[in-house]
Amino acid sequence: MNILLLGSGGREHALAWKLAQSQKLTKLYAAPGNPGIAEHAELVDLDAANHEAVTAFCAAHAIGLVVIGPEAPLVDGLADSLRNAGVPVFGPNKLAAQLEGSKGFTKDLCSKAGIPTAGYVRTANRTDALNALNDFALPVVIKADGLAAGKGVVIAMSESEAKEAIAHMFSGGFGEAGAEVVIEEFMAGEEASFFALTDGKTVLSFGSAQDHKRVGDGDTGPNTGGMGAYSPAPVLSATLEQRVMDDIVRPTVAAMAAQGMPYSGVLYAGLMLTPQGPKLIEYNARFGDPECQVLMMRLEEDLVPLLLATAEGRLAEHGRVRLSDRAALTVVMAAKGYPGTPEKGGAIGGIADAEKYGAKIFHAGTAIRDGQLVANGGRVLNVTALGDTVTQAQAAAYGAVDAIQFPTGFCRRDIGWQEVARETKG
Ligand code: AMP
Ligand code: GLY
Repeated sequence: MNILLLGSGGREHALAWKLAQSQKLTKLYAAPGNPGIAEHAELVDLDAANHEAVTAFCAAHAIGLVVIGPEAPLVDGLADSLRNAGVPVFGPNKLAAQLEGSKGFTKDLCSKAGIPTAGYVRTANRTDALNALNDFALPVVIKADGLAAGKGVVIAMSESEAKEAIAHMFSGGFGEAGAEVVIEEFMAGEEASFFALTDGKTVLSFGSAQDHKRVGDGDTGPNTGGMGAYSPAPVLSATLEQRVMDDIVRPTVAAMAAQGMPYSGVLYAGLMLTPQGPKLIEYNARFGDPECQVLMMRLEEDLVPLLLATAEGRLAEHGRVRLSDRAALTVVMAAKGYPGTPEKGGAIGGIADAEKYGAKIFHAGTAIRDGQLVANGGRVLNVTALGDTVTQAQAAAYGAVDAIQFPTGFCRRDIGWQEVARETKG
C-alpha cells in the first residue's frame, strides 16, 4: 500500500520511521516532511490547506491511507475532503476535531455527559467574561477558545492578571481563536497524558505519557510545545487508567457519535490527577509531539494495520495495542532563543555516533544547507531511548545527547524527573 504522511515535525518523523518498518507498505510519501523523514519517504511539495491538490495527489499515486500528523489540517476539514473522495484517512473529520479546535465545545460536551473536568464559563462577550470572574477563586484559568499553538492559556494569579488576559483575548491577541473565551476553575495535581485509538465505536488504549511543558530545568520559564516526554507514566496506574477510560474517554466517544459527529483517530486526553480522581484538562485530536516519539519507540506491532483499521472502522477486529513494558524517554534539543525567536542555521553533527548508544534521533526542525544538517526551527531534535526503568532510559537518552554537536542548541537536563525521583525513593 502507498501511504501519504502529512506534517514536518518530530512526531511525523517517529510515525514515518514506524510506518517504514511495515510489511504492508509499498511506498511512503510525506509532505512537507524534513531531512529525517526523507530517510523513509519521498518528500512531496503539497500544501495541506489545498484539499483539491491533496486529493488529486492521492488519486494519482494510488494512496491507500493518509496519516494527518498535526491539528491544523484536521480542524480545517482535510479529513472530510479525503473521505468524500474515498481515501481512507487517519484523523478526525472537522466537526469531530472540535474536541481540540474549540475548548468551549469540549467543556459543553463534558458538562452534558457528566465527564469530570474543571468548572467553567464560556462566553463571547467581554463584559460577561469580566463579571464571571466574581464566581471563581484565584488562581483562575483563562483560555482562548480556538487553536493558539499552545499559547492561548493564562493561569492568572490575581484579579488584575485575569482581567488583563481577558482584555488581551478580546482585543484580538490570539486572532479568531480568542473571539470566545473559557474561564475555568484551577485544578491542582500532577498532569499526565492518555492516548486512545478509536474508530468512533471501539476504543483501544494507546498508553500514557508525561510531557515537560516549561522551557527550563525544574519546570521553570515560559511554556513550550514540550521539551521532553516519557512513557508510560506510572503515576497513571492501571486503576486510574481504567477510570479515565470509563469516566472520560468512552463517554466522550459515545457522546460524539450520539451527536452525529463520530470521532475517528487518536484521542489525546490531557489529564489532571486531582485528589478527587482524574479530570480532563483538554483534548487533542492527534498524537502529542514529543509524546508520539516515545509511544512509537514502545510500539511492538505493525503501525499500518492499526491506523488503517481505525480509518476503516474495523478496530473491533484488533486486539489490544501491543506496547513494550519498557520505558521510553525523549529529550528535545531546541535552538537557543526557543520558545521566543530561535536561532536558525546552527550546524548539527554526531547523530550517527549518538545512535550507536542505541538511541533514536528524530528530526523536528532541521534542514540541509550545502550538504550540512542545520537547525531550522525551535524544537530541532528529539533524542529518544528505551530502558528497563525511566532512570535507565534517561541515562541512555542523555548519553546520546552528549554525543551530539549542536553548539547553538540547548536542552533540559531533567526530563523524567518526576518518575526518576519516585524510582529513586523506591
Ligand atoms: P491546555 O492548552 O488546555 O492543555 O493548557 C495548557 C496547560 O495549562 C495545561 O497543560 C496545564 O498545565 C494548564 N492548565 C490548563 N487548564 C488548567 C486548569 N483548569 N487547572 C490547572 N491547570 C490548567
Ligand atoms: N506536547 C504537547 C502537545 O503535543 O500538545
